[in-house]
Amino acid sequence: MANVPGMTENSDKSPASEQELRDRMVKRLIELGAARSPRVVAAFRSVPRHLATPDEDMAKVYEPETATITKTDATGTQVSSVSAPRIQAMQVEQADIQPGMNVLEIGSGGVNAAYLAELVGDGGHVVTLDIDPDITRRAKDFLRVTGYSNVSVITADGEYGVPDHQPYDRIVITVQAADMPPAWLHQLAEGGRLVVPLRMRGMTRTVAFVRDGRHLVSDGVELCGFVPMQGVGENRMRLAVLHDVEGEEIALRLDDHPEPDVEALRAALRSPRAEEWSGVTLAGDESKEHLDLWLASVLDNLPLMTATPAARQRGLVAARTPLGVPTLVDGDSFAYRTVRATEDPDRFELGAAGHGPQGKEVAERLVEEFQVWNGEHRRQRAHIEVHPAGTPDEQLPVGRVIDRWHTRITISWS
Ligand SMILES: C[S@@+](CC[C@H](N)C(=O)[O-])C[C@H]1O[C@@H](n2cnc3c(N)ncnc32)[C@H](O)[C@@H]1O
Repeated sequence: MANVPGMTENSDKSPASEQELRDRMVKRLIELGAARSPRVVAAFRSVPRHLATPDEDMAKVYEPETATITKTDATGTQVSSVSAPRIQAMQVEQADIQPGMNVLEIGSGGVNAAYLAELVGDGGHVVTLDIDPDITRRAKDFLRVTGYSNVSVITADGEYGVPDHQPYDRIVITVQAADMPPAWLHQLAEGGRLVVPLRMRGMTRTVAFVRDGRHLVSDGVELCGFVPMQGVGENRMRLAVLHDVEGEEIALRLDDHPEPDVEALRAALRSPRAEEWSGVTLAGDESKEHLDLWLASVLDNLPLMTATPAARQRGLVAARTPLGVPTLVDGDSFAYRTVRATEDPDRFELGAAGHGPQGKEVAERLVEEFQVWNGEHRRQRAHIEVHPAGTPDEQLPVGRVIDRWHTRITISWS
């Protein structure tokens, strides 16, 4: 691997070398629990990721939570990036890559392929695939400059995998998928692991699956955000815009949700907010990802509501997360998850903010679900399976079934 020198400004104004930046990034990835195993730590300590995006500020490229956007489409949607180091580390850990393995990555950028190449070592092989020739050109350049010769870079639609190099011990998908084309399962070795940012009823989680014959069984679920799939498998969410004024945008992201009455919901948003509180508290650093996925698996009409920073800052919605908040929609009214401080500075209380003629009642329903979750499901984790389309109901685990074109995805809790 080449070592190209580079310097950047430290916070105390002294220059930080690229190795210092990498060490700092790795220290933080360990603190965040994203990089856990010594081999993953070593891989992240050695790949000079800044060389993949030479026009970017080097210090930024080594920030654990920062993705480097490399392409945006005509609608303004980000369609390609080098993923944030934390997300890459999390997925690579989920994949459990061992020396000598044959690994397929769908969605290239070069950097993640270099981490995979470090982990499989000289005796292994990595195939990285992207639909966009600009991206594969850049990935090839990066892998050549950095000296990773055990990686094949291919331009093609990931829908069909890469049959020439199958079977794969591991398949790592680094683009949001709403479905799982049959090629992915067929090209994965029996017992092999497949890691995918899977969108289920509007919520994306990177799920580690293990192949068990004709279906996949989950072995770990993590919160994430990824750019949408292009090509044959493209299935973007639709936006129902409830407010759009001078950079302030509030929208519902519709996946397989019923078509909303947008005019009525716009009027609802302009009406006063009714707040209901659940008595259910969470620790300040406790993630709501399990609660949100559970809610999505029990409530039929629960899209995520997103708001631009300007809309959030002006308090148009009482929610801060850029990934969106679960929002229960019922006709002309809706209610979304919110929180308030408690007397204990380390805990906050879950509540719901309702808008519209039935806003209070919808908020009460959401609050009841928080209480059910707290009483019966809080310590449970999602168990996700992927079965081929056409699998009869009686052969599926009991739980929520999401029907896609190629697959039947099930979510159960235990
Ligand atoms: C988040 S980026 C990949 C990041 C990369 N793995 C890295 O090194 O961090 C997602 C990529 O998926 C690609 N992509 C989208 N749809 C695809 C498809 N159907 N087949 C292959 N690649 C696809 C995009 O062009 C984009 O470059």
